[in-house]
Amino acid sequence: MCGIVAYIGKKNAKDLLIDGLRSLEYRGYDSSGIAVLHNSKIELVKSAGKIARLEEKILSLKAPALVTNSVSSNFNSHVAEKINLALETSTCGIGHTRWATHGIANDTNAHPHQDTEANIALVHNGIIKNYLSLKQELEAEGIQFRTETDTEVITHLFAKQRAGKADLDALRAVMNRLEGSYAVVILVKDQNKLLVAKNQSPLVIGIGEEENYVASDSSTVLQYTNKVLKLKDQQLAEITETKIILEDLYGNEAKIEVHHLVQNTSIQEKGPYKHFLVKEIHEQPAVTSLMLDQCLANATKPITGFEQLDVDFKQINRIVFVACGSAYHAALIGKYLIELWARVPVDVEVASEYASKQVIVGANDLVVGISQSGETADTLAAINNAKNAGAQIMAITNKSDSAIYDLTSPNNYVTPAGIEVSVASTKAFVSQVLALYFLTIKIAEDRTEIDLTEIKQGLRSLPLIIDQVIERAEDYKKQFIKYSNYRDFLFLSRGINYPIALEGALKLKELSYIHATGYPSGEMKHGPIAILDQSVPVLTIAIDGKSKFEHSLYEKTLSNAEEARARKSPSLVIACDDNQDVTGLFDEVIRIPNIDQFLSPIIATIPLQFLAYYIAEELGKDVDQPRNLAKSVTVE
Ligand code: M6R
Repeated sequence: MCGIVAYIGKKNAKDLLIDGLRSLEYRGYDSSGIAVLHNSKIELVKSAGKIARLEEKILSLKAPALVTNSVSSNFNSHVAEKINLALETSTCGIGHTRWATHGIANDTNAHPHQDTEANIALVHNGIIKNYLSLKQELEAEGIQFRTETDTEVITHLFAKQRAGKADLDALRAVMNRLEGSYAVVILVKDQNKLLVAKNQSPLVIGIGEEENYVASDSSTVLQYTNKVLKLKDQQLAEITETKIILEDLYGNEAKIEVHHLVQNTSIQEKGPYKHFLVKEIHEQPAVTSLMLDQCLANATKPITGFEQLDVDFKQINRIVFVACGSAYHAALIGKYLIELWARVPVDVEVASEYASKQVIVGANDLVVGISQSGETADTLAAINNAKNAGAQIMAITNKSDSAIYDLTSPNNYVTPAGIEVSVASTKAFVSQVLALYFLTIKIAEDRTEIDLTEIKQGLRSLPLIIDQVIERAEDYKKQFIKYSNYRDFLFLSRGINYPIALEGALKLKELSYIHATGYPSGEMKHGPIAILDQSVPVLTIAIDGKSKFEHSLYEKTLSNAEEARARKSPSLVIACDDNQDVTGLFDEVIRIPNIDQFLSPIIATIPLQFLAYYIAEELGKDVDQPRNLAKSVTVE
């Protein structure tokens, strides 16, 4: 995980680094730091906490009086003046925002890291798997480690290798010792250049006019240049203002392939909303509407949007979804739909497990990764594992400029949810679920005679119904905040809404830090029921259906909710407006507009997003950036 950024050119490096870090904060926000080159020396500032704290610390260097006590810097005035001068004048530097893997989030473990002589400063994204043995080796040579990070071994190894070697050769020698993932940028005292290396963690170079940028993500450099070089695994480079020397691990010069990307200068604003999360919840009608216009403009015509795929669904014997978190929950709904309507067997696997399994797949199996960011390391590894074992691969992702998109092209469907800033997924999750309805229809149309016109018409009504649900937000708030002080929650449902119970529980956990678990309703009596008493609310999603089968699922769900009530658990239910048999059975009836059970997952999700939001707000939690999380999880 973590985000890295670097600049060399004629502009003020500090300002660009801070801007870059802000745009990379989605990759981690435990601590941050920058280092700049000035008068052949490296000056460095780093701080635990979010980038705002780093900015305050930088401000404290020139205006100590403006700074709160909590951020007061430890620099004496002479040192502060020196660092401040460097920050204000330097045109070459590196920066890092951290999601802690090795070592707690404090100032010391924050990047950049330096070697013993302070000749270099280095930022790293990834995990060095063999860092312990390397550390022992270096300690035996007398090197004293200052941090608990895995990264520090790279700084000492590089400092050691530099003796008598050209910098790129030294870096190559270090890479040959490292096992694991890394994107690294190094600043060398008295040399106006940046050194970079990459393996399994993303790294791009933004090529400008007499300036170059480096970042974990192309969107960070796109505000300055649309010419982007994406480093490949095991490549390394030396970058000056005007030149890039790109090499591979064997010392061969590598071809510089410049991509001209579409410049996206849109800055994400909250508009009238207090948090990005609420803004993104409110964007769901527009996102679903756009998707429907793109793929299902006419319910009587075949679905569109999958023309670019190089997959013959008639030949597919099995589909395996691999995903993490909310995307995994979306996949579970996909399984339900595809098995029901397209009649293809589907497995759903947690990507981190599937990544290291001896998978049994063949050329007629289709492994589909689902990932909002398109960068999730576990999902990427799972798809790669399937590919290497001989499966066909595909992806549903929200980012066309991503590793998962590149890996699976042309077999991908890109959800047009737009940038999701809030760490907890809302609109991206809903767009994944809708994409899975679309994929199901596509497969069913290719393989079966089933008439899905009614389903397609139902899908077309979703944006309007989502809008109606959102209009009820204030009513939901009154209902939900009463439950803010409970420490545990259970979410139950059956069939197509069981994954929504999981998603509701995940949202509540992420945003409010309340322990919450989702279960299939019928499973509760096999163990979880033991925890129930008046201190554990149980929220049930109970949506009735037209068919006998749907109705029987609903009845069983209600009867399981009764079992929870009998154990004195406060009871909440999500039910449709016309459904009167829940009245009196539950302490809290959360109403949603009438909807067919098979179309209900998306609609039932919305009140659960509000549940998590209002409770988190009531408890004063950091809604958009909950503790310990990151938007894009780029380590396994
Ligand atoms: O970018 P991805 O969809 O691959 O991310 C997967 C999970 O990390 C993500 O869904 C996570 O669970 C969210 N924070 C959920 O709100």
